[in-house]
Amino acid sequence: MTKPVPPTVSFDEFDEINYPRPEITDFDGIAERFLSRRGFLKGSAMVGASAFVLGAGSLAARDARAAAGWLSFEPIAANSLDQVTVPKGFKAEVLVRWGDPLWSGKPAFDHVTRGTGESQETAFGDNNDGMSLFAAPDGKSVMAVNNEYVNRNIIFGNRPDGKPANADDVRKGKAGHGVSVFEIAQHGGKWSVVLDSKYNRRLTVDTPIDITGPAAGHDLLKTAADPSGTKALGTMNNCGNGQTPWGTYLTCEENFNGYFSSSDAEIKIPAEFKRYGIGPKDWGYAWAMADERFDIAKHPNEPNRAGFIVEIDPLNPSSTPKKRTALGRFKHENAELVVADNGHVVVYMGDDERGEFIYKFVSAGKFAKDGDNSALLDTGKLYVAKFSDDGTGMWVELTPASTGMASMAEICIHTRQAASAVGATTMDRPEWVAANPLKAEVCCALTNNKNRGVKPNAGGDPTPANGPNPREKNNYGQIVRWMPAGGDHTAEAFAWDLFVLAGNPTVHNDANAGSKNVTADNMFNSPDGLKFDSQGGLWIQTDGNYSNAKDFAGQGNNQMLVGNTETGEIKRFLVGPKECEITGITWSQDKKTMFVGIQHPGEKGNSHWPEGGDAVPRSSVIAISRDDGGLMG
Ligand code: FEO
Ligand code: CA
Ligand code: CA
Repeated sequence: MTKPVPPTVSFDEFDEINYPRPEITDFDGIAERFLSRRGFLKGSAMVGASAFVLGAGSLAARDARAAAGWLSFEPIAANSLDQVTVPKGFKAEVLVRWGDPLWSGKPAFDHVTRGTGESQETAFGDNNDGMSLFAAPDGKSVMAVNNEYVNRNIIFGNRPDGKPANADDVRKGKAGHGVSVFEIAQHGGKWSVVLDSKYNRRLTVDTPIDITGPAAGHDLLKTAADPSGTKALGTMNNCGNGQTPWGTYLTCEENFNGYFSSSDAEIKIPAEFKRYGIGPKDWGYAWAMADERFDIAKHPNEPNRAGFIVEIDPLNPSSTPKKRTALGRFKHENAELVVADNGHVVVYMGDDERGEFIYKFVSAGKFAKDGDNSALLDTGKLYVAKFSDDGTGMWVELTPASTGMASMAEICIHTRQAASAVGATTMDRPEWVAANPLKAEVCCALTNNKNRGVKPNAGGDPTPANGPNPREKNNYGQIVRWMPAGGDHTAEAFAWDLFVLAGNPTVHNDANAGSKNVTADNMFNSPDGLKFDSQGGLWIQTDGNYSNAKDFAGQGNNQMLVGNTETGEIKRFLVGPKECEITGITWSQDKKTMFVGIQHPGEKGNSHWPEGGDAVPRSSVIAISRDDGGLMG
């Protein structure tokens, strides 16, 4: 039904012709201000022309990517197939699957038992999420990949009720979590894991980790096993990621609350726990059955030691990772790190829960190329975002003075409460944040929020529709974009607009149709993973409703698209198999391969991807390349 773009018709006019919008509404007022072509320019003007006018560098880059055929693909249609679909001229191959051993002499994945505690500890973890590729000094390529959680009905599919039945099942479940680090190499054009590489390592829920930064040693972090409050065991629910220019990997602990339970059913849950969703029942993982530190009746401070960003040196398998408390404690999605022009390190972070906030950390020290950057993430300022409806915003520093809290240590442990105290803007579930490497522009996926305008967040903060979160009962999600004042990532002021409001223009004729850059051909719901490539393309990965029915009719399985933040254009590049989400993205050293994560295919029992037949579905990392050997970003 979409008409071709006549050369004389603008982007806006084209969509107006194809998808006429209803009469102006309150929503349209906001959309007009923040999203229309006029809004793009108006928003950018607020931070001064210099921030938005393309520099020579980025123009050169755009010429280069045009020459390389960057983004020159025929967008694909939505589908509900049990396969990965990419455009003509591209191929997608599986690199590694849940349960694939990282060392030789270990058992291959067993489709009947789905592995044991022992086999899982030496194999790629489950539900891969954020990932980064590192170039080792010896030229090798080393991947670090998060393993966010396990699908109980799949990993324990050998048990009649899909629940862990004994201590070894708990061991297997815990080992399915964490981070997998391994070398990869390309032979005959095909990438594979290098078994037994000196870089290969599994980090799990039982790996020793140091606690550093303002909260280290605080009473709230002391436990029976660690009276010092500085030595944690393990990392869990590792969602999105970050990568530092000094060669380390950041893994982000998200829904850590779901692993704790109480042997005392009558336990009184303090408000501090309620804010983070910590209660007497876990989500069925039953870790406390075999490891009592997950029993909050016995070890009430243990949950305070999770919910952080952890820094890992992927090239040194014997290094001890560090929980960087200066970056705050919440349900961390990812950690997008930028070195500001003045040398300070800025880390942008989302807290993925309905009505929670967007944060940034600014290091006190400066990045030193070839210097010691090992303590940069321990000292600095922690800010939370306040968006105004006029398209401007402020980063508000969290300090004892601004929050009324006793110390920075407490702020770094009860960060949500600190942000509520300064009146931060409640957001529609902040997922990944992505910074454009070519200019001072940052985007965050706000995945959806059925509670917007319906009820407050877990801290009682009201959540009326507001500028960057304009729709009540938000089903589809949006991507907010901000431009730091003066192009300085350390600045406290910014201007913002909306890059896209997802929606379904084939079902709705109102705000739920989405913004003007959403069409019947590129529509999607629930943006989640977000990353700019080196050429400035914004890759958008979805974790949404894949029913392909009703509000989501025509949207098919979860997918990956690429957006152009200069023009607003969005094109669908990939569709995943049934019941998966697409999450995690990185590139080979030569940028000719893009690695993408396929998480939880068949989470409701209806996929056999990637092996087909009657195989158990397995989360996997795939490698995507062009048939002509061109660049992938
Ligand atoms: Fe792990 Fe918010 O996604
Ligand atoms: Ca996510
Ligand atoms: Ca999500």
